[in-house]
Amino acid sequence: MSADAVAVLGTGRMGGAIAGALLAAGHRTTVWNRSRDRTGPPAEAGATVADTPATAAAAAPLVILCVKDDRAAREVMAGVGSAIAGRTLVNMTTSTPEAAHAAAAWAAGHGAEYLGGAAMTDYRLIGGPQTHLLYSGPSEVFDRHKATLLTLGGGARYVGADPAVAALFDMAMNSLYFEFWIGYLHTLAMVRREGVAASQFAPVVARTIGEIPPLMPMIAEQADHGDYDPATQGTVAELAALTRTVIEVRGSRAVDTERLEHLASLLDRRIRDGHGEQGPTSLIETIEEITAGGGAARQEVHG
Ligand SMILES: NC(=O)c1ccc[n+]([C@@H]2O[C@H](COP(=O)([O-])OP(=O)(O)OC[C@H]3O[C@@H](n4cnc5c(N)ncnc54)[C@H](OP(=O)(O)O)[C@@H]3O)[C@@H](O)[C@H]2O)c1
Repeated sequence: MSADAVAVLGTGRMGGAIAGALLAAGHRTTVWNRSRDRTGPPAEAGATVADTPATAAAAAPLVILCVKDDRAAREVMAGVGSAIAGRTLVNMTTSTPEAAHAAAAWAAGHGAEYLGGAAMTDYRLIGGPQTHLLYSGPSEVFDRHKATLLTLGGGARYVGADPAVAALFDMAMNSLYFEFWIGYLHTLAMVRREGVAASQFAPVVARTIGEIPPLMPMIAEQADHGDYDPATQGTVAELAALTRTVIEVRGSRAVDTERLEHLASLLDRRIRDGHGEQGPTSLIETIEEITAGGGAARQEVHG
């Protein structure tokens, strides 16, 4: 077993791209896939094709698992069994934090180290110098395999010692994206009601969105420190008034305002609780008050 050898379990679109990047970087690569016909491209690029996940895992100190979902990952891990002993398992399957904890426990129970992974990118970008992948788990394990993992994406980010943090961040980013996406479609509907093409509006969106990234760390700092200075973003009361105006304008164009009504109700509650003059980040306190079990969930996964 050569030190730079890597096994890839699952050669679908993402696993196949991972195997391809490893082969391109000169790693001795063994692949396994449930349907053998999908191992064709990595085999042509020089990979050894294993007959079972256990044989593949036995061939390398670093084993990368990338299958459809947590259920498939569990099935593959059951097939690997004791062959994972003494190895590092990096799970790139999109996972829930709970499944990541369970997979890490499975690895520990089989004498293996574990890193949770998350691909924050399209499989076609794997191997790129900026490609954004997340890893979490013991820092010494990440450091040991860092050079190899960087070949999958130069923008790799180590996000914490808890193996579930990568999965948590992945789910959180999907959650943010879905809220953004449904909001974007509603605003496109709003301008189209006026007979304005969505494509006429899109450059304005792109330009304005470009100003948001610097606000993200600032808002996060405010949330972490409970410091809700209204100097930069105005007050809860001002945001509540603007939200009502937007609801009126959007509603009068017969576009659904349900999520905005929800925002307005949160802002109203914040004002009723006596915090109307705080900055709008303070709304996180109201959100956490009314989110059942929020406190317990926060304690389960930590950096
Ligand atoms: N594609 C992307 O751009 C992208 C981006 C970010 C994250 N991801 C994540 O990467 C993971 C893989 O996605 P993908 O795009 O590569 O999917 P895909 O092309 O549909 O491939 C799915 C893979 O999972 C395997 N699989 C499914 N059920 C299985 C089971 N019960 N036992 C063993 N193997 C099983 C498939 O094997 P068969 O070939 O035998 O069906 C195949 O290797 C997912 O968790 C996905 O969320 C993908």
